Amino acid sequence: MEGKDLLSMALAARKLAYTPYSGFQVGAALLCEDETVYTGCNIENAAFGPSNCAERTAFFKAVSEGRRSFLAIAIAGGPSGKEPEDFCPPCGVCRQVMMEFCDPETFKIYLGKADGEIREYRLKELLPLGFSGKGVERKE
Ligand code: THU
Repeated sequence: MEGKDLLSMALAARKLAYTPYSGFQVGAALLCEDETVYTGCNIENAAFGPSNCAERTAFFKAVSEGRRSFLAIAIAGGPSGKEPEDFCPPCGVCRQVMMEFCDPETFKIYLGKADGEIREYRLKELLPLGFSGKGVERKE
């Protein structure tokens, strides 16, 4: 699975975004180590706080179905009514969720636009000195 394939899946997932409060629609496609792909879109809420980003939707779908190992995510976002013309980098909260489950040295983040342009990053570049929970006692 290449970045361009993941980007097409992110662009398709973006069509399902529920964004009445921002009109900013994001799609994500998360590639698991076993080659399954989980997609996600952002889902907003009238109370604002409960809104969920596309990336976390994809991660939480995958983890809730037993996936724990991830290779890459593609993200595409922009104002509704047109295809994404700019790159949409993940928010800080989503970067931290990636940090929980992914190796920052190897996990790839593809930012894509509708014209097919892709930029590829590693998690460590987008979250330098990220908090991995090392030293936090694990109960299980
Ligand atoms: N959003 C995402 O879904 N992912 C990102 O990477 C950035 C922001 C959503 C949150 C909110 O629904 C809308 O985009 C505007 O911030």
